[in-house]
Amino acid sequence: MSTTPFGWLAEARENRRSAGLQRRLRPRSADTELLQLAGNDYLGLTRHPAVTAAAADAVHRWGAGATGSRLVTGSTDLHAELEAELAGFCGFEAALVFSSGYAANLAAVTALTGPDALIVSDAANHASLIDGCRLSRATTRVAPHADPEAVAKLLAGHDGRALVVSDSVFSVDGDAAPLTELADVCREAGAGLLLDDAHGLGVLGDGGRGAAWAAGLAGREGTVVTLTLSKSLGSQGGAVLGPAAVIDHLLNAARTFIFDTGLSPAAAAAALAAVRLLRERPDLPERARAVARGLHSGLTAAGLSAVRPDAAVVSVRAPSPQDAVAWAERCRTRGLHVGCFRPPSVPDGVSRLRLTARADVSDDTLDRAVRTIVETAPAGA
Ligand SMILES: Cc1ncc(COP(=O)(O)O)c(C=O)c1O
Repeated sequence: MSTTPFGWLAEARENRRSAGLQRRLRPRSADTELLQLAGNDYLGLTRHPAVTAAAADAVHRWGAGATGSRLVTGSTDLHAELEAELAGFCGFEAALVFSSGYAANLAAVTALTGPDALIVSDAANHASLIDGCRLSRATTRVAPHADPEAVAKLLAGHDGRALVVSDSVFSVDGDAAPLTELADVCREAGAGLLLDDAHGLGVLGDGGRGAAWAAGLAGREGTVVTLTLSKSLGSQGGAVLGPAAVIDHLLNAARTFIFDTGLSPAAAAAALAAVRLLRERPDLPERARAVARGLHSGLTAAGLSAVRPDAAVVSVRAPSPQDAVAWAERCRTRGLHVGCFRPPSVPDGVSRLRLTARADVSDDTLDRAVRTIVETAPAGA
C-alpha cells in the first residue's frame, strides 16, 4: 500500500505497460514526408488555401480566441453564418456550434434527457456519447451493436422522455448504423433519435450532406444530429443540428454551451470556408469513399481482416495490442502513418490498425499504402 497520494500511479502505469496499453505522445512535424492515414482530414481540407486564409483573416479581425462564452461576450457574424450554412447544407432547421464535437455530444445528450428519461445507447458509441449518458443522470440501457430490434425492446413500456443515441458511422470499425430502422423504432415508441454524424458529414449523403440526409432523416421532427468540425471540414469544433426549438433549448440549458468559451473565430471561419468548398466540390466525398473501398479490397485480397467500410474509416484487426503497436511502427518506418487503436478505445477489446481514407490520395499512393500494410503485417493478422 503506497503512502503518498499518487503512489498508486506507478502500479497503474506498470499494469498498462505489461498489457501493451501504455500511451505516449510523439512529436509531429509540420512538413513531414509521412503519408498521413491516421487523421480524420477526409477531404484534405485542413491545409486548403481557402480554409487557412479564412482562419488567418478571422484571427486578424477577431483575435486569437473567442474571449468568453457567446452568451457573455456576444456572438460574431461568423458564428451565425456558420450555423446557418451547416443547417442549410445538412437539411436542418437550425444549428448551434460548440468548441468541440465532444462538447456538442455532451450538450445534446444531457439537455435532451434528464433524471426521469430513458436513453438507449448503442454498445459501440463514441466515448463522448457515453459520457453524455453518464452526465445526464437518465436511466441508460446499452443496446447490442446495430440492433434496432433490441432497441425497440429496450424502449418498450417506457412512459415519458426517451432518446436513442447512436453514431451514424462507428468510429472504430467504420460501419454504418441502421438509420432507417432506428428511426422507425423511435417513431413507434415516441422516442427522439440523436445521431452523431462525426464520420458521415462530408463523406455520406448527396455531396457530403451526411448520413441523416442519405437516410432521408434530415430535418425530421424527432431527429437531432451532432457533428464535429474537425474531420471532413478540417477545422476544430462541433455542432448540433435540429428543430429550432431544440437549438433554443440547448442555448438555454446545455452546460457545455453556457459555461464553455465559444468556438474560436478562426475555427468558425475555417469550417465555414470548408462547407462552402464542399458545396462546390461534390466529387470529394465520392473520392474519399472510393479510396476507402480501395484500401479495403487491397487489404482483404491479401488475407487481412478488415470490416467493409460504409464511409471513410477502414479498420484492420491485429492479433494483440503489442502486435498493433509494432505493426503501426513498421508502417511508420516505411513512410506511412496509420492509427493504432487499443483498449479502452475499442468496444470489443480487439486492437486494430485504423486507416482513414482521404479524397486527396492518388491511386498510386493508395497502392503503396496497401503494399506497406500487407508487407509489414504480423503473423496471425
Ligand atoms: C464519433 C465521434 N464523435 C465525436 C467525436 C469528438 O469530436 P471532437 O474531436 O470534435 O471533440 C469524435 C472524434 O473525435 C468521434 O469520432
